[in-house]
Amino acid sequence: MSMLNIPPARRVSALHAHLFARLNRRKAELRAAGVDVISLDMGSPDLPPASHIVEALVRGARCLNRYGYGEFSGSPAVKRAFADFYARRFGVTLDPEREVLLLLGSKEGIYHLSFAYLDVGDVALAPDPGYPTYAAAAKLAGATVYPLPLQRLSDTTREGASEAEGDLWLPALERIPSDVAARAKVLWLNYPNNPTTSVAPLAFFERAAAFCRQHGILLAHDNAYSETGYDAYRPPSVLQVRGAKEVAVECFSLSKAYNVAGMRVGALVGHAEVIKTVAALKSNVDTGAFAAIEDAAVAALTGNQTWLEARQADYRRRRDVCVAALRALGCVAALPRATIYVWARLPSGATDSAAWCEAVLEATGVSFTPGVAFGSNGEGYFRVALTATPARLSEAMARLDAYLQRTDGRPISSSQSARDLHCEHAILA
Ligand SMILES: Cc1ncc(COP(=O)(O)O)c(C=O)c1O
Repeated sequence: MSMLNIPPARRVSALHAHLFARLNRRKAELRAAGVDVISLDMGSPDLPPASHIVEALVRGARCLNRYGYGEFSGSPAVKRAFADFYARRFGVTLDPEREVLLLLGSKEGIYHLSFAYLDVGDVALAPDPGYPTYAAAAKLAGATVYPLPLQRLSDTTREGASEAEGDLWLPALERIPSDVAARAKVLWLNYPNNPTTSVAPLAFFERAAAFCRQHGILLAHDNAYSETGYDAYRPPSVLQVRGAKEVAVECFSLSKAYNVAGMRVGALVGHAEVIKTVAALKSNVDTGAFAAIEDAAVAALTGNQTWLEARQADYRRRRDVCVAALRALGCVAALPRATIYVWARLPSGATDSAAWCEAVLEATGVSFTPGVAFGSNGEGYFRVALTATPARLSEAMARLDAYLQRTDGRPISSSQSARDLHCEHAILA
């Protein structure tokens, strides 16, 4: 019997296999061959959520009358919990019914916001380097993506900060050509930033909101890492800008905030009309979240938050081990003020991040994400996810050291698949 050859829709035929899907396959092969793989690529927290979150999930799962469809935009209780969290954490007042929409993770919100607002011919402004879903979603919606290069600036807003601490990577909004600004409908920002780990001062959010107001652009802020600040640093919400709710929405996610990435829960908050529009689109696509997950989200958002201090202290130890080791190897790496990553320049002699990361994985069993996977301005860098214990991170860095000594920093192989990676618009989780 011959197989039907059914071509996929044009909008998906340009998509490539998920970078992490391919990486995971290769790591599984290496593990099967007996390699002790250390996976520092995907930003999936390895630390568990607090027990009160798990207990709420289990209690909810035991209620046998709560297995029906959820409420489309989230239950009143979970929307109230997001509003309470925003009031307590950011001093931002939200109307739970008009200004909060439950999401099945922020990635879903990024897609649906893009589909709700971008038509063919519209422009989406997306940071480069940046989380690839902003560009992927805009392209799937038929829009054009205008990459906003992030410029590396030394953080002069903090007294006594050493040059290597907390570099800022911000887009130069004033350099966006006026015809592009006129066609742009959505501006994506993400601070604390993946992959650069940059934070943004509230003053930058104020400038971004003023720019969007001037050009009639929706400011969409992806706030996936606000709860991952180190020491006393507490990253702001874009909604803290006066009048922000007139031009902005924000995706908030529990994935990294509360170590529940697999639970798939977050919220879109802000501009009431935008919330209503995205909710209308979503009601045609999905049908709310499982009640037990909503219960767990309520517990996370409104329950005891002190465990996060110990969690951040854990990440901080990992960050310090990683940055110190990378610097000892001669890699330029800023000390992040937030996020669960370290963003480092390739060692001298290496220029192709995809080929380098592949060669390092093959030779050492340590897996990093190549900077180019986040856009062409990420070339020359690699990202380390702090998703392993300090001991495993030290082991990873020791293997990298031995590899660099053997190869003098140059990748020992550069296969075709590494070159393919370099060209693709990788979609990262
Ligand atoms: C900047 C950014 N936004 C969104 C996401 C996706 O988060 P979620 O699990 O909420 O879909 C990630 C995941 O790594 C991310 O780095």
